[in-house]
Amino acid sequence: MTLILGLESSCDDSAAALVTGDRRILAQVVVGQNKAHQPFGGVVPEIAARAHVEILPSLIRQVLGEAKLTVGDVDAVAATAGPGLIGGVMVALLAGKGLALAAGKPLIAVNHLEGHALSPRLVDPDLCFPYLLLLVSGGHCQLLEVRGVGDYRRLATTIDDAAGEAFDKSAKMLGLGYPGGPALSRLAQSGDAKAFALPRPLLHNGTLDFSFAGLKTAVMTQRRKLGDEPSASQAADLAASAQEAIVELLVKKSLAALERTGLTRLVVAGGVGANARLRDWLGLECKKRQVRVHYPELALCTDNGAMVAMAAAMRLQAGARAAKDYAFDVRPRWPLDTAALAPA
Ligand code: KG4
Ligand code: ZN
Repeated sequence: MTLILGLESSCDDSAAALVTGDRRILAQVVVGQNKAHQPFGGVVPEIAARAHVEILPSLIRQVLGEAKLTVGDVDAVAATAGPGLIGGVMVALLAGKGLALAAGKPLIAVNHLEGHALSPRLVDPDLCFPYLLLLVSGGHCQLLEVRGVGDYRRLATTIDDAAGEAFDKSAKMLGLGYPGGPALSRLAQSGDAKAFALPRPLLHNGTLDFSFAGLKTAVMTQRRKLGDEPSASQAADLAASAQEAIVELLVKKSLAALERTGLTRLVVAGGVGANARLRDWLGLECKKRQVRVHYPELALCTDNGAMVAMAAAMRLQAGARAAKDYAFDVRPRWPLDTAALAPA
C-alpha cells in the first residue's frame, strides 16, 4: 500500500502526516501559531516562515516516531508548493526535497487548494464527485467545482479579503482577540442582526466572486460612531450585523453556484465553516433544494498535512507520475484549475 509523508507550511500552521493510499491516517500533527500573530491581529508572513523553520523538523520526527517508521519506508514525500505565503511555502517544500533526496524517494509538489478540495473524502467515504466546495478560512474564500482528481473549476474567489479575515477584522474593531471569528460569533448571539445596515458587496451584480473590503469599511464607520465606550448591547448588535452580512454573502453565492452548476452536494471547508449562523442558514436553504451539505471534521478541513499527503496519494492513483528531479519551484499564486497541468 502506498505510503506518503505530507508536509504543510503555507500559512500559519506547521503540519506533517503519514497517510496511506487507502486513505488511512497513520499519524498526523498540526501546530498553529495564533499566539505569535495575536499582537498583530493577523498573520505576519516573516514570523510565520521563521516559526515553520523552527518547528517543522520536530513534527516530521514526531509522525515518523508515532508510526514507528523512517523516511525510508515511505513511497513518496509530498509538500505544499503553493499557493500561500512564499517564505512559509519554501520551508515545507525544501524540507520535503531534502528528505526525499536523502532517502532516494520521489517528491510530489502539491497544490494546497487541491489538498482542501480532496480532503473531505478523507473522512467521508460516501462523498462522491462532483461536488461544490465552499472554502472559507483566514486565507481562502473560494467556490470550486470538484469534478474528480485533477479536475477542478474555480467558480469564484475573493477580490480582496478572505471570509475569515472579514470576521477577524470586524472582531478587532470590537476589541476582540485574534483570531476573532469565534469570539465575534459568540458576541453576535445576543445581538440584533438588523440593528446596523451594512452593505453586501457584489451580491446583485451577477458575479459569484466575493468582496469584503467595503463591508469592513462600513463596520469601521459604525464602530467609530459608537464612540470610545460602546455599550455591551451596541457591540453585540454590531457583531451580529457584521456576521449576518458576511454569512449572507457566503450563503447566497453558494446557492447561486449550485444553481449555475446543477450540483447537488456542497462541502464547506475551512475555519469559517464552524460558524453556527452559516451552518443554520445554509442548512435551511439546502434542505429546500434537496442539496446535501457536508461539513468535514474541522481538524481535517483546516490546514493540515494529511490533506497534502492525501492529494498526492490520489494523484498517484489517478496516474500522475512522481517526478524525481526535485526541480519544482514554489508558486505563490497557483489557481487550482491549472493543477492538473503541473507535474506531480
Ligand atoms: O482554516 P483556518 O483554521 O485557518 C487559517 O486560515 O489559518 O481558519 C481560521 C479562520 C479565522 O479567520 C477564524 O476567525 C475563522 O476561521 N473562524 C470563524 C469561526 N471559527 C473560526 N469565523 C466565524 N465563526 C466561527 N465560529
Ligand atoms: Zn488552507
